[in-house]
Amino acid sequence: MIVTIDGPAGAGKSLVARMLAERLGFRFLDTGAMYRAAALAALRRNVDWNDESAVAAVVAAAKIESLPDRVLLDGEDVTQAIRTVEITKLTRHTANNPQVRRHLVALQRHVVAAGNYVTEGRDQGTVAFPNAECKIFLVASPEERARRRHRDLVARGETIALEEVLAQQTERDQSDSARAAGPLIAAPDAVEVNTDGLTPEQVVDKLVSVARNKT
Ligand code: DC
Repeated sequence: MIVTIDGPAGAGKSLVARMLAERLGFRFLDTGAMYRAAALAALRRNVDWNDESAVAAVVAAAKIESLPDRVLLDGEDVTQAIRTVEITKLTRHTANNPQVRRHLVALQRHVVAAGNYVTEGRDQGTVAFPNAECKIFLVASPEERARRRHRDLVARGETIALEEVLAQQTERDQSDSARAAGPLIAAPDAVEVNTDGLTPEQVVDKLVSVARNKT
């Protein structure tokens, strides 16, 4: 069985998707980590960001593994390296690149072919797994999402103002929603869950009952 969780940055997807996978006894795939690792691969090769084919070629040649507890790029643990503000900004160059998206969606399907999975991203219920048995679209207000991401960044030692996080988030929301390939959009058969004011545990309780209703 496949459960897809899509939604904008900061809606709380990562944490609750992980917790949901644990509760259901499923494996977990963080697809955002793949777009981030792809951006890190291109950055390290000094690729011209305007050359979409060159970016796609570097990504296709890289070995990207999004494991439940860490992310590997050509075998190196880049779990921390892909979470910086710089990589978060640069990831639009891989996320908005149709060739990169085709490659990473194929990789996601290959990984998920084996076993029960909770997959998390922007296009999981629409493009990657349109036949998934259970699709969830998580939403939250822009202010709450920015507050959560700001808290995470500060906890990781980054110095950044809340206003800056909100501005970057608005930019990313627009870029994620406007792209032609794999835009951020709810699948028609997705269940929308608003996480405003809910603890992760409360969100997961809701999601478990949504998932159980689909089995
Ligand atoms: O969820 P995240 O912040 O780690 O995602 C990083 C970026 O990758 C974000 O800009 C959206 C993009 N992304 C995407 O385009 N498609 C996905 N399936 C997952 C993430």
